[in-house]
Amino acid sequence: MDWTIKKSPRGLRGEIIVPPDKSISHRAIMFGSIAKGKFRAKNFLFGEDCMRTYEAFKAMGIGIEREGSDVIIEGKGLKGLSSPGKDLYLGNSGTTMRVISGILAGQDFPVKLTGDESLSSRPMKRIVDPLLEMGANIVSKDGLPPIEIKPASGALKAISYTTPVASAQVKSCILAAGLYASGTTKVTEPYQSRDHTERILEHFSCNIKRERLTTSVEGLEELTPRDIEVPGDISSASYFITAGLLVEDSDIILKKVGINPTRKGIINVLGRMNADIELIEAKGDFEPIADIRVRTSSLKGTTVKKEEIPLLIDEVPILVIAALKAKGKTRIEGIAELKVKESDRIKSMTDNLKRAGVHIEEEEDAIIIPGGVDEIPSSSFESFADHRIAMSMAIAALFSSSECSIKGTECASTSYPDFLRDLEAATSKKC
Ligand code: S3P
Repeated sequence: MDWTIKKSPRGLRGEIIVPPDKSISHRAIMFGSIAKGKFRAKNFLFGEDCMRTYEAFKAMGIGIEREGSDVIIEGKGLKGLSSPGKDLYLGNSGTTMRVISGILAGQDFPVKLTGDESLSSRPMKRIVDPLLEMGANIVSKDGLPPIEIKPASGALKAISYTTPVASAQVKSCILAAGLYASGTTKVTEPYQSRDHTERILEHFSCNIKRERLTTSVEGLEELTPRDIEVPGDISSASYFITAGLLVEDSDIILKKVGINPTRKGIINVLGRMNADIELIEAKGDFEPIADIRVRTSSLKGTTVKKEEIPLLIDEVPILVIAALKAKGKTRIEGIAELKVKESDRIKSMTDNLKRAGVHIEEEEDAIIIPGGVDEIPSSSFESFADHRIAMSMAIAALFSSSECSIKGTECASTSYPDFLRDLEAATSKKC
């Protein structure tokens, strides 16, 4: 599928309800399935990635039903999963593969995890190494998928592990495996990454402790599920936040978006860039939420430091677009992890922007965006089969001289199936 996105005819207006958070939806299924008892996750994301998790746990014998926008899960306890009797195909979803490996390391049946072309080239050594240290029986194909997990010869061992990269997926994998190990499993990360696993485990009365960059979990204790409502996804909101800032005469409100401090990096950085973003905080249950009001702003360039990257890891492509229109250069440091996402996001953005005549400077571990680009020429962009690239380039098209095409946009359903509909609605409302 291709999109043709026209220069925005007017400012963005109205209220937008962005899709539910992808990371939290995954965790609702994963931890709901291994908790003991019935659990409802309201406002679940029925996007492609989360459906891979949904189908995987159904295939492992968990009763999961859709009821309107909710899912209801009959959790069977830590050891309640059963053999799927087939390989588990996880599509494009790195979160599913990495986090469920921790859960599967503690089960009594063998399972093979496979993925699409993009997932098959994503690094898995980062989870295989700590799981091997815990005594798991796990093999990858030279550090890449497929991953095969067989029952461990004895019980899993609790470990203290320092992750070389700040990755919530790796941290969550080890914490999940820690639920199956006797004693205390500790994970220390170099910088804070998103803490949705810690929060849902706390919500399920798990014995989990946090001390700065170290999280520890006590194993072999059953989880008690408690219903949740999944907030709107700040990563999905970031496309509209940026569009609202960049397109003249915009004034929009994004409803009930998750503003967890470990996900809010994009708001902080845009704030530094002079963005007019107002958070109208509301009551969330286990994750903080807010309505976000955004008005057109004259942005200025900034520097994003390495330690900020995990707090906005998925927003770097759209931040590049925001930085284009800013006055002065923006420097983004600590970009290595961006190269191993659904696509090499540095290459994808650099290549696309080259087509629009914009040169992004690349240093060893940083990029520099020139700024001062008020309008881009009509161009033909590629999604590189990466949802975040497709949606970022769609926002760039709003300030093109007439229109831009984006090829291969079916990938948007990974996280935001109705993106185009919402964009059309926001750009077509008269003041
Ligand atoms: C995710 C963590 C991030 C993020 C991904 C979702 C999660 O990956 O990029 O889209 O749900 O834990 P890393 O933690 O590996 O950087």
